[in-house]
Order: sequence, then structure tokens, then C-alpha cells
Amino acid sequence: MSETYDVPPRVRAGSRSPIQSLADWRAAWLAARDDPDATWLRETTSRLAWQKAPSRGLEGSFHDIAEAPIRWFSDGELNITESCLDRHLATRGDKIAIPWEGDEPGAGGQLSYRELHQEVCRAAGALRAMGVQKGERVIIYMGMVPEAAIAMLACARLGAVHSVVFGGFSAEALRDRVRDCDASVVITQDQGVRGGRPIPLKATCDEALEGERGVTAVLVFQRTGADVGWVDGRDVWWHDCVPTAEPVTEAVVCAAEDPLFILYTSGSTGRPKGVVHTCGGYLTWASYTHEVVFDLREDDVYACVADVGWITGHTYIVYGPLCNGATTLMFESTPLYPDAGRYWDLVARHRVSIFYTAPTAIRALAAQGDDFVTRYDLSSLRVLGTVGEPINPDAWRWYREVVGAGRCTIVDTWWQTETGGIAITPIAPATPVRPGSATLPNPAIVPVLMDDQGRPIVGPGEGRLCLAQPWPGMARTVWGDHPRYVSTYFSTFPGFYFTGDGCRRDGDGYHWITGRVDDVLNVSGHRMGTAEFEAVLVGVDSIAEAAVVGFPHALKGQGVYAYLVLQPDADITEPEALHAAANAACRQQIGAHARIDLVQLVPGLPKTRSGKVMRRILRKVAEGQPDQLGDVSTLADPSVVASIVAGARSLS
Ligand code: WT7
Repeated sequence: MSETYDVPPRVRAGSRSPIQSLADWRAAWLAARDDPDATWLRETTSRLAWQKAPSRGLEGSFHDIAEAPIRWFSDGELNITESCLDRHLATRGDKIAIPWEGDEPGAGGQLSYRELHQEVCRAAGALRAMGVQKGERVIIYMGMVPEAAIAMLACARLGAVHSVVFGGFSAEALRDRVRDCDASVVITQDQGVRGGRPIPLKATCDEALEGERGVTAVLVFQRTGADVGWVDGRDVWWHDCVPTAEPVTEAVVCAAEDPLFILYTSGSTGRPKGVVHTCGGYLTWASYTHEVVFDLREDDVYACVADVGWITGHTYIVYGPLCNGATTLMFESTPLYPDAGRYWDLVARHRVSIFYTAPTAIRALAAQGDDFVTRYDLSSLRVLGTVGEPINPDAWRWYREVVGAGRCTIVDTWWQTETGGIAITPIAPATPVRPGSATLPNPAIVPVLMDDQGRPIVGPGEGRLCLAQPWPGMARTVWGDHPRYVSTYFSTFPGFYFTGDGCRRDGDGYHWITGRVDDVLNVSGHRMGTAEFEAVLVGVDSIAEAAVVGFPHALKGQGVYAYLVLQPDADITEPEALHAAANAACRQQIGAHARIDLVQLVPGLPKTRSGKVMRRILRKVAEGQPDQLGDVSTLADPSVVASIVAGARSLS
């Protein structure tokens, strides 16, 4: 049993949260489980500015999800930007909505709620003038500038559906997404800037759109002033059209279940899926979880240092905080620029009280020593969050003791692109915490652990993590492919949503996420599919077959390990040259974050007689456990195993 830390007095003091203790949490959780309609109708009507308040709660169930998607609040009507902007103007017009810290320390600016509202209305006007209509898809390919949030909200103001593509993705990945959702407009910027280096966003966008007929307009925000290519008749500068646009003061009214955005995410098989989130339920969940988990207070300065290209940026930089009228910082740079003190410099200068980052950053910073932390005044901090991957207890303790000086609580928040918001987590003022445990489910989340036979485990145990009941923020479908949604999430355990994660539950009901049990990799908090890597690798000259698995990596959480079988006539036979060629292909076809750490050339892959690759064997070898391969007698050619084990690579 690992140590337990009670909530520090500083975290409890002044809290007005309705959940102050484990008893409060239990009462709220039971109420939500037993009467979801009453619970969430009450939450949504008190949190959101509805044009027409909903009278219906939940419709549909996991048992008939193939026929009818889940719906929440289906007779309600709203425009979510009124909840995020308009209704704050009377009480919080001058409150800072977005402080922005640029790449260079201290560079940046800020927007009040009034200014943000104005910018969003104008940007929506510019998009409307470009022909964007309700329901149309707009791709946003930008860095961490306030205009990225403005662009998202401007789409929402028109009822258009945005799909933000992380700025690290390649032209090919961007093109795939433009095509999949049939986007008509792309919003980008001349360049991004990160860690002193430019990111050629417009150039990549131009490459992606070459020959694409569907995109009729590209709106370009000028960040650096670098020279960029220009397509007359298609490209428009933000500064030429947004400031003079007719503001969309009257937001377009949407139904609760109209799509708000699509976000592409990797799975076990095939290309990334366009996960669809809808207006009413998503915003309710974003608002509820952001306020309750972090115990948000009116004067908090809240900083989530994720990128808007991922779900964390959507829910916990933009939608949740703005719906709650919070001050939500946007950060353009990296934790290591100009040095490992950057986050703490940021916290000290902005007097940040709630700070939310990923374990991979914590591990990287802990490795640089405590001096980078202790030289700054971090007394403003109260709640420290982590998200994206399991956090190892050492990194957790460093975060709590060195960054939080023992005065802050740690919320290790487990969730996914598909859950829309935080699902299993401590509640800051209420939950005693344990290093490495995401602890307890939020109200509406009913976790079930399944054993190998697909039976629910009662009491403590370890199994595959499923969720038994719909919650307001869950993804409703996969864009254009509802059958894929059903088969990905609801076919493994019929009647349950399967997360793809393994999980242990201890005697106190605390949850310990053990990582993915499917073929999804989590490298530095970036989610990638092994199948996506493999599809790229088999396209590289000299490579006949490829199998990719993850292995434990001290800093990144997981590293990427590729087993490659050469073509008989391969002209590259040096592993190093092949490694470089493989990574160049991954960078070009997926993005800069898709890098293979280790390459092993093998004479063949371990296949069953029916031709299925036994990935278990490859995983065990990559994990450095060749003595735990289990039964290999069903292999077509068991002799390949010996050569795979003999040639195993490692980082040490
Ligand atoms: C996967 C989802 C949630 C926003 C960022 C990632 C892993 C996420 C935790 C955590 C252990 C975690 C899971 C999950 N994960 N948070 N606190 N502890 N694992 O979203 O890209 O959809 O990835 O990230 O494996 O399934 P995502």
C-alpha cells in the first residue's frame, strides 16, 4: 500500500466547493449514478446560457448505441459562445480572460472578456464573409496564440464545426484530416514559434492543400512576419479582414446535439478517427469538471500548458475555463526554453494558482535538479494537475514536494479524447491522494474492470477499464463512420464503453491506471497508433514488413520500438541508415513527434499459422523480458523467436 497524503490546509481554506470531503463525493457520485437526468439537467441549466432550456436529460443506452447515438439535453438550444463570452460581460467584462505568454519570457499580452468577445464576434464575421455556414467544417492549424482560441470560438459562434490539427502534424496528416471532414476553410498562421525556432505552419498548409479543391479559403494570422507563399483568391490575412469584419453579435442558435468539434485521435487500427463532440453535453461536462476537480475560485489564475491541438487544450484551456469565467493562460513556449525554470518563472510572474501539465514534462524537469524551481516564488500555487499518461511515484513526489512545497494537492486526472473531460481524478479539496493513483471516478463516471473472460471484477483487482453509463461529455460518434465508433468502443464488452486502458483498483476503491492494453502508444503524452507507424514503414524502400510496439522509457513514458524485415533485394542493410530513413518517412507522413527510438532488423516476424503477428512476443522482447514470452508453440516458425531475442536492442 502506498502512502496517502491528506488535503493540505491551504487547499481546503476558502473552498466553497459543494464537494469538500469523501462523504460529499460519495453522495454526489451516487446521486449522479442513480438519477442522471435530474443531476445533469440541474447542472446544465445552472452552468450554461441556454436559449431554450432542455427538458430532457439522457436518451439512448450503450446497449442500442449502434442504432441510436447517445443524446443529452436534446430539446435544448444554445450557442456555446454565449456561455463562454456574452453572459460574462455584465459581471466580468474587464476580468482578464486570456493572459498570453509568448515564446520569449515575458513577451505576450492579455485579453479581457470584453476584448475576447469582440475579437470572436469579428473573427466570426470574417468567416461568415468567407462563406462559412452552420454545420460546415473548418480546420484550424495554428500554434499557441490567442487567435487559435478566437478561431475556435468564432467557428462555434456560427455553428460551424472546427477541427484543430496539432501544429506538429505533417502536410500529409493535415491533408488526410481536411479530406476526411471535407473542410471548406483552413485557419493557420504564417509561422509558429517554439523554443526560439520557427514552425512553418503556412508552408505546411500550402503543401497539404496542393491540388485540393474543397478548401476555398485560407485565413492566415501573422505571427512572425516571415515571407510566406500566397495563393491569390484563396488566402486572406487575418489582419486584413478580421478587424474590419461585421461582428456577429447574434450567435447562431444550435441544437444541443449539433456537433461542436471534431478531433482526430489514434486507435489500434487504421487511420486516426474523427471523434465528434456536441454542444450541450460537452460544455456542461467541461464546465463541471473544470470547476469541481480544480476547485476553481473567482480570483484564480489558471494555467494549463497543453496545446490546443489536443483535447486537453480544448476542454481545459478554452471551453471549460471560459464557460466558468476563469482567467486561463495560454503559453506558446516549452518547459525547457530558455531553461528548465520556464514554467516556474511563468507561475511566479503571473501568480498562477492552478497549474496543469503532463508527467513527461515533470520527469524532464525533475531530472534537471531543484534549483530551477526553488529560485522562484511559487507561493501562489494551490492545485497541481497532471494528465496524459501514468505518472511514476517519484515524479509525483517531486511535483508535490519541490514544486508544491508540500502545500498544494496533486490531481492526477485520467481521461481521454473520447471522454471529453476528466473522468477519474481526485477532487482537490476532498480527496486524499496517493502517488500514481488517479483515485476516484467523477460523478457520472461508473468504472467497471473486466477480467480476461469479460466478467466484471468485484472489489479490488486488475482488469480492463470500461465505463458502464453514459456521461454528458462523451464523444457521440466518429465523423462519417458511426459503425467504426460502435466497433471501436462498444464491441469488446457489449453494453460497456471500453477505454483501451488497463487499471487496478485497490481495497479503498482507488484506481491505478496501468496504461494502454491495446495497440495504442503513449509517447510523452502523445497518442499514436502502432498501425500508423507500420503503414508508413512498409512504404519505405528496403522494408518488407514492420511491427511496432512500445517499451518503457524513463523520460517519455513509452518509447517506440520497430521490428523490420528487409526486402530480399534491399539496398540499405545498415540498421542506422534504415533507422534514419524510417524516421524521415514517419516525420513526413505523420509529424515531427512520431519518432522511432529503436530499430531491430529481424529475419521474419513471429506469426501464427494463420498469419497473425504475435505482438505479445514482440512486446516482451522490447520490454527486456525475453524470459516471459509464454507459449510460442502456435507459431508457424518458432525458430524466428531465438533470433529476435538474440538481436534485441535497448537504450542502455
Ligand atoms: C490516454 C488518452 C486526456 C487528455 C490527454 C490524453 C492516457 C491520460 C492519464 C492519467 C494514466 C492517462 C490513457 C488514456 N492517460 N491521462 N492521468 N493516468 N494514463 O488524451 O490523447 O486521448 O489519450 O492517455 O492511456 O487512454 P488522449
